[in-house]
Amino acid sequence: MGLDAFSLDGRVAVVTGGSRGIGEEISVAFAEAGADVAPVARSEDALEATADRIEDAGGTAHPRPLDVTNVAAVEAMFDEVEASLGSVDVLVNNAGTNPFFGNPRDLDMETWNQILNVNVTGAFHCAREFGRRVNGTGALVNVASVGGVVALPYQAPYTTSKHAMVGLTKALAVDWAPRIRVNALAPGYVKTEFTKGVRESEGIRQDILDTIPQDRFAEPEEIATSAVYLASDAARYVTGEVHVADGGIAAR
Ligand SMILES: NC(=O)c1ccc[n+]([C@@H]2O[C@H](COP(=O)([O-])OP(=O)(O)OC[C@H]3O[C@@H](n4cnc5c(N)ncnc54)[C@H](OP(=O)(O)O)[C@@H]3O)[C@@H](O)[C@H]2O)c1
Repeated sequence: MGLDAFSLDGRVAVVTGGSRGIGEEISVAFAEAGADVAPVARSEDALEATADRIEDAGGTAHPRPLDVTNVAAVEAMFDEVEASLGSVDVLVNNAGTNPFFGNPRDLDMETWNQILNVNVTGAFHCAREFGRRVNGTGALVNVASVGGVVALPYQAPYTTSKHAMVGLTKALAVDWAPRIRVNALAPGYVKTEFTKGVRESEGIRQDILDTIPQDRFAEPEEIATSAVYLASDAARYVTGEVHVADGGIAAR
């Protein structure tokens, strides 16, 4: 098959949470691999910046504001991207949130519902619409977390949501085979806004580093390469897998 199998030439991809962080880097890496990309998220200005990077990398970009919790907006987004870039071959469910760090006893239900609504229900809105529309074959990459494989201390709702995402990945992989491959990508701690608080808190930072055999946080680009692999024909016999890129956390 050769290294051409890693190419995404001619593919159209939607990347949720494409306005910054891991989703931004996945969008750019996809364009470098030959895809046209629709980065979607709520922040319009940041999406434009991602779109510029996609175009600089040689792809056509279609940035589009979207809140993944709004099911009607998800359908409208797919209509618009199809009209602009063509049928969608790859969906990356990357939009996510984690506003709670603490003892589960102190968690209010509004925050619990918000985390599950964005991380699980929002991902399902997008996956369902993708599954309805795939023309031929497709690849779905769900950005879960090492928190979808092992518990992350003081992050009970997030850990729950990411375990649910792994369950959704396996269920869709079985139900949609052989046409659509569905895999989860499970990063460890990555240098994005998402982890800024814990990385800048001296005590917590060292506690986290102590759990990472590679003894450092990941760059978002180091996660994007895994997404390219899972979306490409290089992974054409891989489905229902949890691809862990965590510097060794889950291996301990
Ligand atoms: N950073 C890490 O260490 C780490 C580790 C494991 C897994 N992850 C996962 O990786 C994914 C990306 O995280 P990140 O580190 O890149 O975080 P980030 O920099 O905070 O980015 C989160 C992205 O999700 C988008 N988003 C949030 N709520 C949304 C909504 N309701 N609708 C649409 N988009 C929404 C944000 O865009 P807007 O605010 O513009 O909507 C942003 O683009 C998340 O699913 C996260 O759980 C991160």
